[in-house]
Amino acid sequence: MKAKMSSTGCRSSFVLSILFAVVLAGLLIPSSTANRHVINFRSPGLYPEGLTWDPPGQHFIVGSLHSRTIHSVSDAGVVQTLISDPFLPENATILGLAIDSSNRRLLATIHSLPPLPPFSALAAYDLRSGGGRIFLAPLPSLPGDDEDIARDIANDVAVDYNGNAYVTNSAKNFIWKVDRDGVASIFSRSPLFNSQPVAAEADETFRDCGLNGIVYNSKGYLLVVQSNTGKMFKVDEETGTARLVLLNRDLIAADGMARRRRDGTVMVVSQKKLWFLKSQDSWSEGVIYDEVDLDVEGFPTAVTVAGQDRVYVLYGRVMEGITGSHKEGEAREWFGIEEVSSEKESGEDKIWVYVLIGLGFAYFCFWRFQMKRLITNMDKKTT
Ligand SMILES: *[C@@H]1O[C@H](CO)[C@@H](O)[C@H](O)[C@H]1NC(C)=O
Repeated sequence: MKAKMSSTGCRSSFVLSILFAVVLAGLLIPSSTANRHVINFRSPGLYPEGLTWDPPGQHFIVGSLHSRTIHSVSDAGVVQTLISDPFLPENATILGLAIDSSNRRLLATIHSLPPLPPFSALAAYDLRSGGGRIFLAPLPSLPGDDEDIARDIANDVAVDYNGNAYVTNSAKNFIWKVDRDGVASIFSRSPLFNSQPVAAEADETFRDCGLNGIVYNSKGYLLVVQSNTGKMFKVDEETGTARLVLLNRDLIAADGMARRRRDGTVMVVSQKKLWFLKSQDSWSEGVIYDEVDLDVEGFPTAVTVAGQDRVYVLYGRVMEGITGSHKEGEAREWFGIEEVSSEKESGEDKIWVYVLIGLGFAYFCFWRFQMKRLITNMDKKTT
């Protein structure tokens, strides 16, 4: 009788532990292709280029190609107008976006595309007071440069913990700095930015596009990528001195950039790919450890890290908006924000699952061994 009872107990605990392992595996295998988060949102004619995530607001933020507006997009795809700034030049484009968490501000680079008159500026909006504008800082050209011949292109922006913004100039290959009071200056014009060969694959869509995506690292430097050479630079926050980051491959047509704080992973997006990069030595050298093909039709331009360290790219179809290739009066209404995950990372996570399952079994065997001993002891006592 006793023996029978203990064997049923053992069998049911075995079943339980299997169940436990299955539940664990289910919980831990992360966002694979199957449950990747896709957000489609409707905003007629928006054609957004920039994307960021606002942690307190728990929503994405996107800018408009021509309507001088900035919008929030919830993870369910609900669009709200955060900022409408009619004092920006008519038809100006909102490009890079960044959240200044220390001051609860939204920073946006503003640029007028030809044939509009040249205009490059950084705007700061107060998120505490419903999006009122704090400043609009015009960005200075190089001394002696004629803006009417070759215009500056204020493209992407990163912000440090004191509220200083760093803006890339894609046309002239330098970086502006705008302090928290809106005072703008030319911050870094390292000769290195003009030292690298333009990639053979660079076609007319990005042959003239230099410095582009930029991220700030609290260890005192910025990382910036250059579209037409595929190079990455590490730029000292104090001096503006640049160094070339040694990579195992070039990031040809690199556009937006983001950094995941948890593990320091850097993501770089191009119209074709999202690259995942890591470094062991604070970016003297970096390694592209994964690349994911993106939907070229959607024209991805920006990447951001949202809640729970998930990586999202923006499909804003900007080129269609610029060339007006849609039918007259029929501007596109729907755009997308999609989660992208690295298979290599989920692979690593799966190994963790197996390790956990293994541990579960080991624990189970140990437990069964203990039970056997207990029962033997009890048998000894009763006899
Ligand atoms: C702005 O765009 C609208 C619509 O395309 C156009 O009618 C208008 O002339 C543009 N304004 C300027 C200043 O180019």
